[in-house]
Amino acid sequence: MSDFPAFPPDFVFGAATAAFQIEGATREDGRGSSIWDTFARRPGAVAGGDTGDTACDHYRRYPEDIALLKRLGVRSYRFSVSWPRVQPAGSGPANAAGLAFYDRLVDALLDAGVEPAVTLYHWDLPQELEDRGGWRDRDTAHRFADYARLVADALADRVPRWITLNEPWCSAFLGYANGVHAPGVRAGTPALAAAHHLLLAHGLAVPVLRGAGARETGIALNLDRVLPATDDPRDVAAALRAETQRNLIWTEPLLGGRYPRSEDDTWEELVRRQTFRRDGDLDVISAPLDFLGINYYTPSVVRDAPYRDADPRTRTADDNRFEGAGMPEARHTAMGWPVAPDTLRDLLVELRERYGDALPPVHITENGSAEEDVPDAGGTVHDADRISYLDGHLRAVAAARAEGVDVRGYYVWSLLDNFEWSYGYGKRFGLVHVDYATQRRVPKDSYHWYRAVIAAQA
Ligand code: FCB
Repeated sequence: MSDFPAFPPDFVFGAATAAFQIEGATREDGRGSSIWDTFARRPGAVAGGDTGDTACDHYRRYPEDIALLKRLGVRSYRFSVSWPRVQPAGSGPANAAGLAFYDRLVDALLDAGVEPAVTLYHWDLPQELEDRGGWRDRDTAHRFADYARLVADALADRVPRWITLNEPWCSAFLGYANGVHAPGVRAGTPALAAAHHLLLAHGLAVPVLRGAGARETGIALNLDRVLPATDDPRDVAAALRAETQRNLIWTEPLLGGRYPRSEDDTWEELVRRQTFRRDGDLDVISAPLDFLGINYYTPSVVRDAPYRDADPRTRTADDNRFEGAGMPEARHTAMGWPVAPDTLRDLLVELRERYGDALPPVHITENGSAEEDVPDAGGTVHDADRISYLDGHLRAVAAARAEGVDVRGYYVWSLLDNFEWSYGYGKRFGLVHVDYATQRRVPKDSYHWYRAVIAAQA
């Protein structure tokens, strides 16, 4: 590891999880139902019919998981708060027993010398709000700001770093356009409304968090490094539409206070006939951020393609005349995702060039890989591919820093193997292997590797 790049002493090494993926205990202590509880029960929605009912049983086993974090030596742990645990119906007063869990968790982290970083929304919308339209409905943004206040009033005295939303692209486009995530809706303009209301929710929550004493407030976007398959102008134009759908729909309002110029070509009638935007929304959405969280896994190579649905009345918002061309030369993870760490550096450098000083400091709030893990007789996984993946991406972060991008932290996804959304428990991203039959946790080689990386920096 002698040639490993040096990071400054205040660089934040962390690990991340999310409530629905690890907590289990979905009916405990007054927790309400979420869209993922409902969706997981829809036949065919999640591989193997897996649900979040037990997950990693973190709700009960959190002391053991915090001990794992402590031994790993991370400075910060990013976890999410389950909205239906805190506010079972998505509005009204807090459920004290639900909030008390996060209170205990935060105190135990601080006792272990690990800084908590809270994500308020990692996809588990209370089902009652979905029944009233979910993110398609503007009122959900206001409900989110109320929920943010309940959590921040309880925890902001001890939690320095706050993330409003995790990957709103997934909430809007997987949730309401192609329907592979909860709530499983396939829509056109309403999915674009969901994207807008998510941005509005974020913007409304920022001053609430600051007012409650949050030191650093940001959002975690899954920005994509999009590359045209060829330099044919049609592929280049397709890449811009892909970038608009994946990146610019978020970064332009958040960092530039404007809607993307390329949106008319990307959504045509779907956005031209919209009525969900109101005067003043962009001012709310573009409230200055203390940091931008970026979740990064893999790039996309795209080429021009016809609409999958020629009829704009039934076309979904993810149908933008491009298709994936793949990266056959790259190694692929167990998700089928090409591994190309340099594209993370390129994404960061390009963001800095595009937004200049309007780009706040960056934290890589997720990065990691699912591999075909096979435990040995002792339960240990020798995951050389995951180590190489993480090594490459940390080097890419160092390279971006060397080119002037102010990256201040890096969180591995994930501390534990967990419920990988529509893939269920079949895909494992953890530094720690979880045997779901016994809930036994065994650190993988990558855990020991990351621990050594962090220790060597100190
Ligand atoms: C991200 C999600 C996270 C996890 C990783 C693999 O999109 O934020 O919950 O599923 O992908």
